[in-house]
Amino acid sequence: MLDRALLEELLAEVRLAPSVHNIQPTRWRPVGRDTLLLLGDISRRLPAADPSGHDVRLSHGAAIEGLSLALGRHGLQIAQVEPLTDVTVSDGLQPIARITIASGDELDGLADVVSARASWRGGFRPFDQAGEAALSRFSAMAGNVQLVRGADSIDAIARLADEAGFHFLCDDAHRAELLRWMRLSRSHPAYQRDGLNAEAMAMPGVVAFGTRLVLGPLFPALRRFGLAATLVSERGKFANSAVALFHRPEGEDPLATGRAFYRAWLMLTAQGLAACPVSVLADWPASNRQLVERHSVPAGRRLVNVFRLGLPAGSPPGGKARLPVAELIV
Ligand SMILES: Cc1cc2nc3c(=O)[nH]c(=O)nc-3n(C[C@H](O)[C@H](O)[C@H](O)COP(=O)(O)O)c2cc1C
Repeated sequence: MLDRALLEELLAEVRLAPSVHNIQPTRWRPVGRDTLLLLGDISRRLPAADPSGHDVRLSHGAAIEGLSLALGRHGLQIAQVEPLTDVTVSDGLQPIARITIASGDELDGLADVVSARASWRGGFRPFDQAGEAALSRFSAMAGNVQLVRGADSIDAIARLADEAGFHFLCDDAHRAELLRWMRLSRSHPAYQRDGLNAEAMAMPGVVAFGTRLVLGPLFPALRRFGLAATLVSERGKFANSAVALFHRPEGEDPLATGRAFYRAWLMLTAQGLAACPVSVLADWPASNRQLVERHSVPAGRRLVNVFRLGLPAGSPPGGKARLPVAELIV
């Protein structure tokens, strides 16, 4: 069922799934003709930003959903995902799940927007009537989101995002890790491979240059003079946007969460909306609590992430930085 050529074709699509900081931690090993072992590359983790490994595991989950969508094009489907509890690491790879493939039925419509989805870090234009309709359709379609609208509420969330972001940026290890995954110049050897490149972050060259200094050697002094928070503020990026609070059942395996997260993002894309996660809002306990209380996230649900979304004021960045398919098969 799964020969090398088909696996390569599938992974060319699977690798388009989102991953935290674009670290692309997921690797695949065919075992027999109908089984794939999903492994995690342990050199691709985020000990400062994601100490529990939640977001890395969620990223594996998004890759599983990507596989499910890609299989549909070939009349195949995922029959079973068996999470593996054996944590033995060999050759830098940790087994995460065993995935069994079987014949499937019809193609999932979301497969058609896989190549169009991208993190949108630019600005938004005001919602027009069609945009409002798209937002309503998205909200009806995605069961796991709570939409927040209204300029005041959005601005309050934008300020909270700045507070949360600054909280994490004040941690030296967190800042250094973020900078390590940023590719601020085209001459960076991994610019097209992984991480966050200037284009994907919607940063003109001069801003990218400034970011290297602000998050790097200048940060302690800028902080002392009370300038750092303003320089790293992303409040303006919320102008004209809506916010979607993405919540899932408490205690859910992040592999399952990641599948739902990717689907929610594809549903947005299918409606012509653009979005970017603002993870700090969910990751910082203080902002997470505030959002859950203010916007009545239902009991028993965990606020997993927050999307800033809307009608993009511009076109998405051209190519996506991704690892070659051959490196994903181990
Ligand atoms: C769990 C998770 C958390 C993320 N958090 C953020 C975030 O806080 N800010 C951001 O700009 N992008 C965030 N992203 C988006 C990734 O950086 C993005 O998916 C990756 O760079 C690949 O780019 P693409 O989405 O355009 O394919 C997150 C993605 C995942 C899966």
